[in-house]
Amino acid sequence: MERSLVLVKPDGVQRGLIGEAIARFERRGLRLVAAKFIWVSKDLAEAHYAEHKGKGFYDGLISYITSAPVMAMVWEGPNAVAAIRQTVGSTKPWEAAPGTIRHDFALEVGRNLIHASDKPETGERETALWFKQEELVEWARAIDAWVFEK
Ligand code: RTP
Ligand code: MG
Repeated sequence: MERSLVLVKPDGVQRGLIGEAIARFERRGLRLVAAKFIWVSKDLAEAHYAEHKGKGFYDGLISYITSAPVMAMVWEGPNAVAAIRQTVGSTKPWEAAPGTIRHDFALEVGRNLIHASDKPETGERETALWFKQEELVEWARAIDAWVFEK
């Protein structure tokens, strides 16, 4: 089963969109694995965004993600990474498809509300970076057979 790290970033938290984001992932059929509401340390921010170090927007990105608490979650399901990125919408909110979170609530790339892992391997790496093994909840839902084919 594929897993993705999802963050409701500081702007999403400040704007009261934690519930809106969770509702959309639940409604999609994804299964929650872990969640915590935390203030991101500079070390964690830098580890999380290591691939962007050196880019022009990097310093702004680090101060953005550490500017207020974030809601960090892991969601799982078949094709979870692609499905979640589709629900979140394109990085640039003005290019995001109607009905996506970034289309419906955002305007700026530097205030795009949500982070979601970009590949299945990234989902595993980011899950391990943000959560300890014992924070990951293994469980089944009564409706799983009606959402997951296998
Ligand atoms: P994320 O990692 O947050 O889910 O977003 P993403 O995959 O859609 O975009 P990515 O390329 O990984 O960029 C990470 C975050 O950096 C900010 N960004 N700013 N000013 C810029 O040109 C720019 N480009 C990216 C965004 O907050 C983006 O989500
Ligand atoms: Mg990314």
